[in-house]
Amino acid sequence: MLKKTPVLLAVSALLSWNTAHADVLPGYQSYNGFTNDVGPDLATVIEWDVTKPACDQYQADLDQYLIDNADVLSGISDEEASLADLSDREIYIIDNFVDTYDRQTLLSCGKYQYFYGHFDTTGAPQVMVDWMLQYFDDFMGPGMSNFGMYEDPNAVATIPAPASNPEIGTRQLPVGIAHSSGDFGNAADPADAIKVYSFTCSSCHFKQMDDGNFAVGIASTDFDYARMTAAQGQLPLSTLLGIPGEAHDPDGLMASVAQAVADSNAKYGQDVAKNAFLNDVNAVILAGSVPEDLASIQSTPEEQLVNWATWPGVQDFLVRPMQDDGVHAMTRMMNNGAIPTDPNVLKQFGFNEQQGLGWNGGGYSLIQFIRGFITMTVSDPDTPESRDEYNYWVKEYRYLPLVRYLESIDEPSLPTDRSFDTAAAKRGEAIFDSNCTSCHNGPGGETSRPYAHAEVNVEAEHANIYNPVWDPDAFDGAGGWENGIALIAERFPAGVTGEVTRKVKAPRFISLWDDRTYLHNGSIDSLESLLGCAADRTSYATVIPTAENPNPTMEEHLAANPIFSNKGHEFGCSFSAEDRADLITFLQTFKTNRNEGNKYNGQFDSVCHVRNNGTSYQLNLTFRHGNNMALMTKHFSDGQCADFDTSLVNNPSVALNWDMQVNDTFINSRGYESHNVTYTHPDGTVDQDTIALEDGQLANAVEGDPEPRGLFVRHRTDYPGLNGLWLNDECRVDNARGMVVIQDGVRVDKSVSYSGADCSGDVLSVVNVDSWTFEDPEWTLVGTHDTYSISAPKYNMHLKMKSTDATGNWTQFANVTDNTLHLMFNNYFAASINGNGEHYTRISDILTAQ
Ligand code: HEC
Ligand code: HEC
Repeated sequence: MLKKTPVLLAVSALLSWNTAHADVLPGYQSYNGFTNDVGPDLATVIEWDVTKPACDQYQADLDQYLIDNADVLSGISDEEASLADLSDREIYIIDNFVDTYDRQTLLSCGKYQYFYGHFDTTGAPQVMVDWMLQYFDDFMGPGMSNFGMYEDPNAVATIPAPASNPEIGTRQLPVGIAHSSGDFGNAADPADAIKVYSFTCSSCHFKQMDDGNFAVGIASTDFDYARMTAAQGQLPLSTLLGIPGEAHDPDGLMASVAQAVADSNAKYGQDVAKNAFLNDVNAVILAGSVPEDLASIQSTPEEQLVNWATWPGVQDFLVRPMQDDGVHAMTRMMNNGAIPTDPNVLKQFGFNEQQGLGWNGGGYSLIQFIRGFITMTVSDPDTPESRDEYNYWVKEYRYLPLVRYLESIDEPSLPTDRSFDTAAAKRGEAIFDSNCTSCHNGPGGETSRPYAHAEVNVEAEHANIYNPVWDPDAFDGAGGWENGIALIAERFPAGVTGEVTRKVKAPRFISLWDDRTYLHNGSIDSLESLLGCAADRTSYATVIPTAENPNPTMEEHLAANPIFSNKGHEFGCSFSAEDRADLITFLQTFKTNRNEGNKYNGQFDSVCHVRNNGTSYQLNLTFRHGNNMALMTKHFSDGQCADFDTSLVNNPSVALNWDMQVNDTFINSRGYESHNVTYTHPDGTVDQDTIALEDGQLANAVEGDPEPRGLFVRHRTDYPGLNGLWLNDECRVDNARGMVVIQDGVRVDKSVSYSGADCSGDVLSVVNVDSWTFEDPEWTLVGTHDTYSISAPKYNMHLKMKSTDATGNWTQFANVTDNTLHLMFNNYFAASINGNGEHYTRISDILTAQ
């Protein structure tokens, strides 16, 4: 933050004059305080008029920075170990230019890149797309809206009327299909290169939700990618050759294409579209390509069938007309919101500080993910560096605005046009905690690791989705792609940019109230179906007759095409209808709240203690449950606290043997109430610290501390006990003390009572003094439980807690996977410790509907 050089400050000052800044409009939601990201009007959500100048400004300032700092930069290595690595120079530029740049302009630019950034990637020939929209407008719908896309209202998306038939008029491109500098084909003369449109992030990650709001970051589950691609292949054939729908046309697409041709002839004149194709489209494509290019995008009927048999919102990730990998495994488009970025959270996930992106959970980071996108759909796969545009865009600092904008994307608010039953959501939460958090224990509801397909019994072809990329031996040693495979395998060695886990990871639960498709292959059409019995599920799949079986049943079809299977993940079958409905209400109202969640103040002692009875050794974990401090003890059978005894993880209910006393209260330089405190260790040593309440959170208040992070008390490595701020050190006649803890960012007064006089002995109760409804934990049972232990070595412990009024027993889980202990408490808190004793904890504050 403080790295700004004078040059940059000058640049920022200029920016405030030059750059158009929009305000967040009433009725719109902003993920970052600057951009309008969710709202009812498409143009307002796209914000072309603001984001475009912001991006021009950013790139121009970046150019200037590179010139002004050429001397410094030339002294810093620009070597990259692989395409997945940043060079020292790139890191320097990111630190010193990108991350000190005016944030509003930066994020606006990132948003522009989300909607219009092409990064020199290739896509569909422009002449072809224009022709489809021009002559088959009724079939495609405005802006391909008949295929689940949205017509881009901006002038930049206007396709001029064709010169050959000006009376046809102009058309608009869909959102997410934008002009690219990339091209297609290997034209002998560069002037003949076939101009392309590329798919931008918004084609697949932007949706109009059920409440009418357009939302950035929501998976485009209405986008009928497969039918659109197939129509693109079939329209010319039907137009030129009059090929009618074929016998094996599974869901009437071919017939509807044939009808579209007839309609076009009726509307614009017989053969008008055909002649336009021959003159305006074919001529361009033939001039700009060599026969191999055309062959590379032609699909056999069988290959097209694979496309046609899919449903909206899914995609075969690498499919013609981009590079085809020859593997047919569909994945559903994913939501972009609430991607964890905090390194501690990422560690907690066991992802080694990697973000675990994609359905296989193997994508290491957003930066690399986007770089993968750029390099995989590069215009010239053989010699990408021969293109200036490629060399420009492949530099991280060019697209880092997009990364920073993606990091800011959150989840849309709950819809205001309907109500959710809060009590049902609360009941559903308890069901979720008992049945689902053994796997869905990430801060956003995601699984914290990928699962083998067999563990959740979902279709397994998905495990092969990256085979051709990563396995040079694929296709009998030939490699699937003549062009791309060698390059990508060389550029993205497995384990560098991402990992081929061959598994599946549940994504974050985002806006589940919005209708969509579920699971990685999008095979399930509702939460009711997902949480019901597999036998009752309806399939999106269309039965495809084959030569051997002209009239297959759906069962036979799914058996023959396992990639469409919707039978897996059957975890709610035994629920009563009421429980299922409650659970669904909970899921629909699920909130990820990840940013507020980054208050990781639980900690295991670094000291290995001998237990009182001398029989085992322990590490203490002090953590917050629902913002309430509690203590957990982990036992070991050896003296080094190395050999974890899984049968003993408990709340020792030890005495609260440290004290904190508030001395004076003052207002700190940031304007918050602060307290100087003294606290006494059990051995009598005394420490002092300063703490503050900032924005309702208890913070370490040393002047200049950048980020208040919840309660943070220093030097507390070996003092078990309830954490919190003692109101005073007075022990009342009822052997109780007053204490402050923070619940959901709000100060709450509590009373802690003890078994012994003078507040000694065990804690008897922790009682809310005010009307706080939060239940206090009471550890009543600890034991091993292997119900959810699907793969060894993993142990699960049920830990029961109950509210002070003795209602509502809650079952909690502790998982031990390999040598890592994971804890999950009512979705409020998760903690992990690995075999090295490193601990990673996090409060996730997942709230249900209020
Ligand atoms: C043609 C459709 C399409 C386009 C265009 C597209 N994506 Fe995706 N995106 C997907 C699909 C499908 C997945 C799931 C991939 C998988 O793991 O199989 C995905 C996954 C992701 C994920 C992983 C999310 C998570 O939680 O793990 C991120 C991040 C992402 N895309 C960002 C982007 C960005 C940024 C762009 C633009 C540069 C982009 N995508 C362009 C279809 C698309
Ligand atoms: C054994 C681990 C496990 C258990 C138990 C489990 N899940 Fe899942 N869940 C997964 C995995 C893995 C996926 C991703 C599977 C896929 O996409 O094929 C998933 C996917 C989901 C999805 C779909 C997310 C999406 O965007 O498509 C929902 C919703 C879900 N689970 C809810 C639940 C609920 C509710 C329960 C408890 C009744 C539950 N799960 C139990 C592992 C589990």
